[in-house]
Amino acid sequence: MLVAFNHVHLRYGQDRPVLTDIHLSVAPGSFHFLTGPSGAGKSSLLRLIYGSERPSEGHVTLFGQDMARLHRSELPAMRRRLGIVFQDFRLIPHMTALENAALPLRLAGAEENQVRAHVAELLDWVGLGNRAQALPSELSGGEQQRVAIARAVINKPRLLLADEPTGNVDDESALKLLHLFLELNKMGTAVLLATHQQVLVDRLGKPELRLRQGRLISTTVAEAA
Ligand SMILES: Nc1ncnc2c1ncn2[C@@H]1O[C@H](COP(=O)(O)OP(=O)(O)O)[C@@H](O)[C@H]1O
Ligand SMILES: [Mg+2]
Repeated sequence: MLVAFNHVHLRYGQDRPVLTDIHLSVAPGSFHFLTGPSGAGKSSLLRLIYGSERPSEGHVTLFGQDMARLHRSELPAMRRRLGIVFQDFRLIPHMTALENAALPLRLAGAEENQVRAHVAELLDWVGLGNRAQALPSELSGGEQQRVAIARAVINKPRLLLADEPTGNVDDESALKLLHLFLELNKMGTAVLLATHQQVLVDRLGKPELRLRQGRLISTTVAEAA
């Protein structure tokens, strides 16, 4: 399993628990939606996976590694094995779309000519081939989102976590973005995609992990016709 949650509880301070007794496994190559209304704990659950939050009780393993036993200094390397699309993009403002998307490859020490070719191809794939030299401030919300997606997948992660990746675009653009995630999934990347847009989930017919009052309810939606 890429991810396993065993008896996971999460509470912030003295508030009532956000997550209660969560069991979850994410298999290689799988695709799941993580749904629930705003405040249900979707982002918290994703943060537990990438180790920016620790469970109050229970265990989270990522790539077979118990996150509680991971030293803080080992966290960045672990995160580089994941693709993460943040809700607020987290693009670097003074870098172009191309430079932002290329960042993980450059950090990994890839050859510059390979970086250029690969990033250009990926920006084409997300439909931004002609915006490669634009700064984030010159891009629409949907375009910034696509740069963030390109950056998240450039290292070919085995697991992609996406937090409301379609939250800033209209339904039609959202469906286009979702098809990028589906294509990626077909090529073997496991995807866990948090969204509160039920209409999108219903359109795609992929399994849904639903958060309700802190608990995880699995629903398998019938395959779309
Ligand atoms: N760092 C934090 N400290 C305290 N409470 C938090 C923190 N992060 C989230 N919460 C609370 O936990 C609940 C779940 O939040 P979140 O995981 O962001 O839900 P979602 O992503 O589904 O909207 C909310 O009530 C939110 O206010
Ligand atoms: Mg959230």
